[in-house]
Amino acid sequence: MSSLLVTNIGQLVSWDADQPIREKAAVVLEGGRVAWVGSSAVTPLADERIDVDGATVVPGFVDSHTHLVFGGDRAEEFEARLAGKPYAAGGIRTTVAATRAMPTPQLRVRATRLAAEALHSGTTTLEIKSGYGLTVADELRSLEVAATLTAHRTFLGAHVVPEGSDAASYLQLVKGPMLDAVAGVASAIDAFCEEGAFDESQCREVLAAGAARGLAVHVHANQLRPGPGAQLAASLGALSADHCTHVTDDDITALRDAGVVAVLVPAAEFSTRSAYAPARALADSGVTVALATDCNPGTSFTTSMGFVIALACRELGLSPLEALRAATTGGAAALGQSDLGHLRVGAHGDLLVLDAPSYVHLAYRPGVDLVRHVIRRGEVVR
Ligand code: NIG
Ligand code: FE
Repeated sequence: MSSLLVTNIGQLVSWDADQPIREKAAVVLEGGRVAWVGSSAVTPLADERIDVDGATVVPGFVDSHTHLVFGGDRAEEFEARLAGKPYAAGGIRTTVAATRAMPTPQLRVRATRLAAEALHSGTTTLEIKSGYGLTVADELRSLEVAATLTAHRTFLGAHVVPEGSDAASYLQLVKGPMLDAVAGVASAIDAFCEEGAFDESQCREVLAAGAARGLAVHVHANQLRPGPGAQLAASLGALSADHCTHVTDDDITALRDAGVVAVLVPAAEFSTRSAYAPARALADSGVTVALATDCNPGTSFTTSMGFVIALACRELGLSPLEALRAATTGGAAALGQSDLGHLRVGAHGDLLVLDAPSYVHLAYRPGVDLVRHVIRRGEVVR
């Protein structure tokens, strides 16, 4: 088992309980995990050594919400939005048609390129949803493509009712043959609880069916207007309620009491020109907040967690430290993983070396590629 010493770290954000941030630090990774954390003055021997010359080291980003497997793009829809046309859930069907028409190898190449782009910018753990296939075969192949890229793959058959189908018969398909087909490939299930997509009882049925098959539960909740999504997530004991753009105080209390993570995706609000989620109220109430890209061709075509962190600080009122926490341990909580998103001994050896004197620069220098190295599972990948 080879070991790697990363030393001469100017500032290390490890999220250690006693010392979450330390100066003049070093880390040893062994067998893909964090084996030792301490002062750079006295370090253990290791097979390899990287001297980062005073740079900042943070845990790799955990992007807990993406829709990376799709055909086509929606640049025209985006341009129309800039001219004043509002976003509506129905645009999803444009991508469904393009995804169905795309041969699997091409779908895989495109998703792989996006996953590589995400890794390059510091995302060492990625969740990927289906939801642009909406037939048994197309949902299955979407999840099979996702399976080549990540362990965290979410079945989103209940994204919208596809063209030519009615809600009742489509839901039977999703809960029955589609779930049967994907249950071995997916690790989680999600549903879009929104006007123009699925209502509360339809989402509840689908999500409960998934949970009964052992899938973790996520909900696209309160994205476009107030609604039942967040409270549904709470009542189902979901891992996360995602978007939460239009949550009320009661929704926030329900999320907190049920221990549901609020996954905020401010790049979607940026791209759809919507109001931002009440991140401050969520965080101040004690809800665990995660930040994710929501990378998809309709509402948020970015893989950059750095951009999301900058937005969260400028537009959502999170401090740089809160935003970094939400982008790392927050994302890990949304995926139900306690060994990700931090650099305590035993965690996955996922870290970023930043060309910056402190983590604050992630928000302070928006749009700038600060990532000098990406280390994933103990391997230097950039
Ligand atoms: O998270 N809200 C549902 N799904 C995506 C949007 C998908 C699309 O417009 O293609 C989202 O924003
Ligand atoms: Fe989404």
